[in-house]
Amino acid sequence: MAGAFKALIVTVRQVALDHVELIVEHERLRDATPGQFAHILTPGTLRRPVSFSRIDGGLGRAGLLVQVVGPGTAWIAARQVGETLDMLAPLGRGFAPPDPDRPWALVGGGVGIPPLFSAWERWGWRHRAPAHVILGARKAALVLMDADFRQQAIEPLVTTEDGSRGIMGTVVDPLRQWLSRNPDGQVMACGPNGMLARVSALTEGIAGPVQLALEQRMGCGIGACLACVVPSVPVGPDGPGYRRVCTEGPVFQREELAWSWI
Ligand SMILES: Cc1cc2nc3c(=O)[nH]c(=O)nc-3n(C[C@H](O)[C@H](O)[C@H](O)COP(=O)(O)OP(=O)(O)OC[C@H]3O[C@@H](n4cnc5c(N)ncnc54)[C@H](O)[C@@H]3O)c2cc1C
Ligand code: FES
Repeated sequence: MAGAFKALIVTVRQVALDHVELIVEHERLRDATPGQFAHILTPGTLRRPVSFSRIDGGLGRAGLLVQVVGPGTAWIAARQVGETLDMLAPLGRGFAPPDPDRPWALVGGGVGIPPLFSAWERWGWRHRAPAHVILGARKAALVLMDADFRQQAIEPLVTTEDGSRGIMGTVVDPLRQWLSRNPDGQVMACGPNGMLARVSALTEGIAGPVQLALEQRMGCGIGACLACVVPSVPVGPDGPGYRRVCTEGPVFQREELAWSWI
C-alpha cells in the first residue's frame, strides 16, 4: 500500500553521462510492481516522480535511475549511501504481466528504459515466446541498461539518433520491422510522448495488448491536482475525456489514449 516513508539509500552508481542509479530499501517497497513510481521529496520543489528501474520484493529494495535535467533530479542524483529519500510509493498503475506465449517487444527511449528493465527482470525468465528489446538514445553515451539486459540473458537492439552506436535512427523502424514479423505480438513501451504516439500508431491492429507508460509532468502524484491529465478516448463532439497519469496510469492500454495533443 502506498504511503510516505524514508527509504535508505544502499547503493549509488553513475550509469551513463548525467545518469545515476540509486538502490533504496524500505519494507513498503516489497509490493512495488514494474511501471509504478516513487514520488520523491526534493528541497524547494514539488516532489519528483521516478520509475523503478529494478525491484527486489524479497529485500524491499528498488532502483531509481535518474537523468539530471533540473534542480530536483540534480538533488536526487547527488545523494549518498546511508542517506534517506522521503518518498510516496509505490504509486500508480504498473504494467500488467505479459502473456508468456505471445511474442513480446519491449521498447524504451531514454529514461523510459528503466521501467522496461524492471518488467523484463520480473517476467522475462518465464517468457516462452520470443522476446525483443529495443533501446533508443540520442547518442552512445546516453544508452541505458543495455548491459543489465545482457546480464538477464537478452541481447537488446540499440538505436542512436546520431548513429554513434547501434542502428542510426529511432526505435520506430526496428519496431515496425518486428511488428511485420509478429502481428500476433504484444508491446510494452516507455519514453517521450512523441515516441509513444508513434508506437501507438504503428501498433494499431496488432493482436496482443499494447501497454504504454507515460512520463507526464506531475504535481501531487495522488490524483488530487489534475496537473498530469492526458486526453483519452472516447473523443466525442465535446472533445476527449481525460485520464490522470499518476493514478489511472502511468501505464495505459493503447486504446485508452488519444494522441491528438502531440
Ligand atoms: C511516472 C514518471 C516516471 C518517471 N521516471 C523517471 C525515471 O525513471 N528517471 C528519470 O530520470 N526521470 C523520470 N521521470 C521524469 C522526471 O520526473 C523529471 O525529469 C523530473 O521531475 C524533472 O525535475 P527537475 O526538477 O530535475 O527538472 P525541472 O526543472 O522540473 O525540469 C527540467 C526540464 O525537464 C522537463 N521535464 C520535467 N519533468 C518532465 C517530465 N515528467 N517529462 C518530460 N519532461 C520533463 C522540463 O520541461 C524542463 O525542460 C518520470 C516522470 C514520470 C511522470
Ligand atoms: S499529479 Fe496531481 S492529479 Fe496527477
